[in-house]
Amino acid sequence: MRIIVGITGGIAAYKVPELVRLLKKAGHEVRCAATEHALEFVTRVTLETISGNALYSDLFASGRTEHISLKDWGEMLVVAPATANIIGKVSNGIADDAISTLLLAFSGKPVVMAPAMNYEMWAHPAVQRNIATLKGWGIRMVGPEVGELACGVSGTGRMAEPEQIATYIASLSTFNFQLSTQKWLVTAGPTYERIDSVRFIGNYSSGKMGFALAQALADAGADVELVTGPTALTIEHPRVKTTRVESACEMFAAATAVFPGCNGAILSAAVADYRPAECANHKLKKQGDEGMHLDLVQNPDILATLGGMKKEGQRLVGFALETDNEEANAQRKLEKKNLDYIVLNSLRDAGAGFGVDTNKVTIIARDGRHKESPLMSKQEVARMIVETTAL
Ligand code: C5P
Repeated sequence: MRIIVGITGGIAAYKVPELVRLLKKAGHEVRCAATEHALEFVTRVTLETISGNALYSDLFASGRTEHISLKDWGEMLVVAPATANIIGKVSNGIADDAISTLLLAFSGKPVVMAPAMNYEMWAHPAVQRNIATLKGWGIRMVGPEVGELACGVSGTGRMAEPEQIATYIASLSTFNFQLSTQKWLVTAGPTYERIDSVRFIGNYSSGKMGFALAQALADAGADVELVTGPTALTIEHPRVKTTRVESACEMFAAATAVFPGCNGAILSAAVADYRPAECANHKLKKQGDEGMHLDLVQNPDILATLGGMKKEGQRLVGFALETDNEEANAQRKLEKKNLDYIVLNSLRDAGAGFGVDTNKVTIIARDGRHKESPLMSKQEVARMIVETTAL
């Protein structure tokens, strides 16, 4: 792969020649770009010698629009170290140096950042807000790690080691473009079932797993139809089309409409099984001592319906959240709903399930094969699910 390594002005820049060496050793072509401040920590000669290519650092050199030709050349952009400054600039659309101009011009291709800064800077709400913005645009973060910082104290802010960044890049690059002729449907998030004009029945699903799946499929080159229930999450990826729905019935309509044109679907939404039989168009009044009774009717089962519609060659992946006899129940569900794979969410492990950033799953194939994940970030779990079920 053709990788641009963008270096900004933190002390961890001194480790970047090692990263460049590891990437070259893994067979990648590397070109380096650096801000002026980065060149206070690592020299042009070192970077040019190790990468074997000229360094891009001066916006105004020879009047060329080098950030444009470089961004056309690169298939991935890795910013290491990424300072609070570059994170702040790019999340606000500022482009005034070699790396920020590259970052703004580099759309539709994977960007990885390895933040590095003092622990108090990392913890500042402005930095955390900017990181959240960049993640929302699909920029991947490696680190920062906890450890000794250049200022002599310990805390979160140390750049991930070059080996760790190189391993992460390897996991992304094996992934690239293998699904580039395919289209996949993903459902995500909770559903809200209206009771009256101001109330609903819902659940705690955050949508994080489904959004990570959409991102992983798009990273693998697929066009993705993401149908999501209410969530604050966003995804900015040129290959992901997001349709926002509220209720199970709306999700059903959206999912069944796009599924016939898809190579596969991964349904991770936490769909309400029941909805109020009637929805009042005003706010219901308090009922007093006699209590309040809601009549519920069953929602359509989207997954089972897609299982019935499934044509030869289409893949269908469902999720299961079971409390007892987990594997046997999941396997039964897989057969009943005509699925190819079912992903069993662990309920036993702290750090897995609703709302949190990590998950632990068992992927069960139709022929009974099992694959268990360790507790990992939802991004890593998503990549494992896509590798196992879609590639
Ligand atoms: O049968 P159960 O609800 O446990 O199945 C869970 C799986 O079915 C999940 O993949 C979920 O997204 C999907 N599902 C659905 N429509 C429903 C209920 C669940 O697509 N109405």
